[in-house]
Amino acid sequence: MRCSDHLWVVLWKLVTVIVTALVVAACGGSDSPGSTASPVGAAGEQIARQAGCASCHGGSFQGGVGPGWVGLAGSDVELSDGTTVVADGEYLFESIRDPAARIVAGFSVQMPRNALTDEEIDEIVAFIGSLADE
Ligand code: HEC
Repeated sequence: MRCSDHLWVVLWKLVTVIVTALVVAACGGSDSPGSTASPVGAAGEQIARQAGCASCHGGSFQGGVGPGWVGLAGSDVELSDGTTVVADGEYLFESIRDPAARIVAGFSVQMPRNALTDEEIDEIVAFIGSLADE
């Protein structure tokens, strides 16, 4: 009799521990990701403004000395060598990482190099993507 009483106590403790662990996992761990995230591209826009891109690409990135970013992502871009390229993420990334790699046709001004990190360029590419259908 004493022996089985003891067994029930151990079992009950085990259940309590498991239930506590489940409650902590379900409630304590939920930081609801996304709830504090800003809209797509917001970080990229800030980085682009701080890096001075707007001085050439326009205050609302509609274009100026350099080509506009509105409607750019996914569009066909004619290059100075006569070829045409689709402005996908890879092209946009390269255009920012290495401005001299592929030159858009019809621009006499040379886009300067910048010291942006890959992460910052990714943010700007996401921002340009968010301007695709405005
Ligand atoms: C001095 C002016 C100038 C500045 C500053 C400048 N750009 Fe440019 N950018 C240009 C010009 C001119 C072109 C088009 C010729 C070429 O492809 O190099 C261009 C092209 C681009 C393209 C390709 C656009 C297309 O239509 O295919 C992207 C993307 C771009 N710039 C992003 C940036 C970013 C991001 C910054 C800020 C870090 C920036 N630029 C700063 C002048 C500038």
